[in-house]
Amino acid sequence: MDYSKVLQEIKEEIATFKNTGKVATYIPELGKVDPSKFGVYLQCTDGNGYGLGDSLDCFSIQSISKVLSLALALKLKGKEVWKRIGVEPSGDPFNSLVQLEYEKGIPRNPFINAGALVVADILISELENPKEDLLQFVRNIAEDQSVEYDEKVAASEMEHKFRNASLTHLMKDFGNIKNNVDDVLDFYFHQCSIAMNCKQLTQAFTIFLNYGKYDLSKEAAVLDPILAKRINALMLTCGFYDESGEFAFTVGLPGKSGVGGGIVALHPRHYSVAVWSPPLNKNGNSELGMKVLELLTTKTEISVF
Ligand code: DON
Repeated sequence: MDYSKVLQEIKEEIATFKNTGKVATYIPELGKVDPSKFGVYLQCTDGNGYGLGDSLDCFSIQSISKVLSLALALKLKGKEVWKRIGVEPSGDPFNSLVQLEYEKGIPRNPFINAGALVVADILISELENPKEDLLQFVRNIAEDQSVEYDEKVAASEMEHKFRNASLTHLMKDFGNIKNNVDDVLDFYFHQCSIAMNCKQLTQAFTIFLNYGKYDLSKEAAVLDPILAKRINALMLTCGFYDESGEFAFTVGLPGKSGVGGGIVALHPRHYSVAVWSPPLNKNGNSELGMKVLELLTTKTEISVF
């Protein structure tokens, strides 16, 4: 497959794309990003990589980080994690509170905010230096020691923490948060603030390719095949919140979005791909990013289906 040609064709096709999306402003620091930024990077299992546009510019990975924190929590705690978090799509927005009350503080899945906050709580209990250790894990799997937290984004989210604080307090009341609520929020906001570029993201997500066996040089970071299988299944069913069905329907790959405008998707036997375009659709997913990935699987005729 000539991925370089496919990416060029996609570039030409989206030149006339009418983007109706809006950059996220509920975390004020994210609202400062240039909406015209656009990057794509595709990393193949044969080792070749292909970049387009601003693929080496760093952006706030936001909810994409939930996949990486889950991978680390599963490596550390295994099946125990599933006693505190479900594996079903929520069908609700990412920051919704409604199900938590009648489902007694057990989040539907690890990719809605409530689920990621429980994962954060697990990591705080398990790691000696939680923020440092998570960042080191991400640097190792991205094979790039320059990856950093964006302290301004983390502080901006802490200032507007009300909905995530509500979720965490409610779960604490149900006994599903073990640590101090502010410590959980601080860890979670830092995790979401991680700044990475498309290339680094595709590299990090290679741990989910070939059922976790893609790059043996990552030894400690490589996932048990069964964990990679489970996480890919969750990305497919829950990676895009109330738009997960639409993403599976139009793109046909497991993936995860973030309100920074990034989307990472992967085909377990072929590639990992990251797209960045800040304007979001009404479900909080990059509008142009979704279009690019739809074109990718349509043109290559390769998806998991
Ligand atoms: O907790 C939040 O609201 C953000 N830090 C992350 C949300 C997010 O990225 C949802 N993704 N589309």
